[in-house]
Amino acid sequence: MRTMELARAAHKAVHHYARLTPGENVLVLADSIVDRGLVDAFASAAYALGGETQVMTFETRPEINREPPKAVAAALAAADLVLDLIQQYIIHTSAYWRAREGGTRILCGTGITEEMLIRLVGGVDYDELVQLGARLMSVFSAGEECRVETGEGDVLTMTLTGRPQVMRDGLLDGPGDLDYMPGAQLSSAPIEESINGAIVIDGSAYPPVGAVGAAIRVFYRDGRVVDVQGGPAAARWHAWLTRFDDPKMFCVAHISIGMNPAARHTGNILEDERVAGCFVLGHGSQMPHFKGKLGRASSHTDLVAVAPRIPWTGTRAGWWTARLSPRVGSSASEGRARPRSRTASPVRPAPGPAPGRAASASAYRRSNSHITPCNRR
Ligand SMILES: [Fe+2]
Repeated sequence: MRTMELARAAHKAVHHYARLTPGENVLVLADSIVDRGLVDAFASAAYALGGETQVMTFETRPEINREPPKAVAAALAAADLVLDLIQQYIIHTSAYWRAREGGTRILCGTGITEEMLIRLVGGVDYDELVQLGARLMSVFSAGEECRVETGEGDVLTMTLTGRPQVMRDGLLDGPGDLDYMPGAQLSSAPIEESINGAIVIDGSAYPPVGAVGAAIRVFYRDGRVVDVQGGPAAARWHAWLTRFDDPKMFCVAHISIGMNPAARHTGNILEDERVAGCFVLGHGSQMPHFKGKLGRASSHTDLVAVAPRIPWTGTRAGWWTARLSPRVGSSASEGRARPRSRTASPVRPAPGPAPGRAASASAYRRSNSHITPCNRR
């Protein structure tokens, strides 16, 4: 184990991103599947920084978003800061939401491993990542159409007008805030009924699948999933949605764009969602900060397209991925304050999909992941 690198990365996360101050009540939370070395690294960092530190572990639940034991829920609510390492995450549970409403701030690292913490948190220059995030937010606000192209002609379009942008760079701002490690993602909730078209998912579908293998092709009408095509992963994802008997599970809750220059497609949703330039569609439960119409649902699932083309209309967006250069991940500077403007981008409706083609990973996976400029419409 790289104990020194792990200690430095945990210190960086707790001190600079979670912003622990001496005397705060800190809860390090894990389920039984989490590596003890990771738990100990966070607990040690919190203790060394002066936190009143407690570690709680409970059984690994069979699936995500099951309410935790009452004692865990009470500890969540009582803590000033929670360092959440739970793998079967609980971010859409009542316990979690109540804790945040009461002022508990939470740094969530669900699914993170020691190696990921060292590489994606300890090894990334977050100052530069934060600056790039601010610039990407300006790209969102300058565009008039959100258009995502995948595969061999599939197009998904949506409107973001009036909806806030949510920068998830891993930095906690204050009481009740929730952020994730590693950063970063830029997210928003499109106007639900404006989401139309099709997308090829060549990365992950989690839960319940993980890495999809053969690509999944998903069709949307007025913000709802209306068809899912592909191989075993497609069938499994669709069956999982269906079994909740909850129409909200078929609705888009958010979109996100990944920003971490050190992230790569591994099948771990935590990392896959942060691959620089990837596009994420979340379905089901919707966090209140998105200010969408959906609200809570039975659960939540994310789809990741690793290599989409996203020509945000009316912007000079091409510079963005060019700026996500290797040097962003080449040093380990500490995170500091970031800008948090909230803007939105108007749009026009989408052309429909070209249904009927079978999806395959080799056919759809492309190496030209980039964000390109195009004309205002
Ligand atoms: Fe999501």
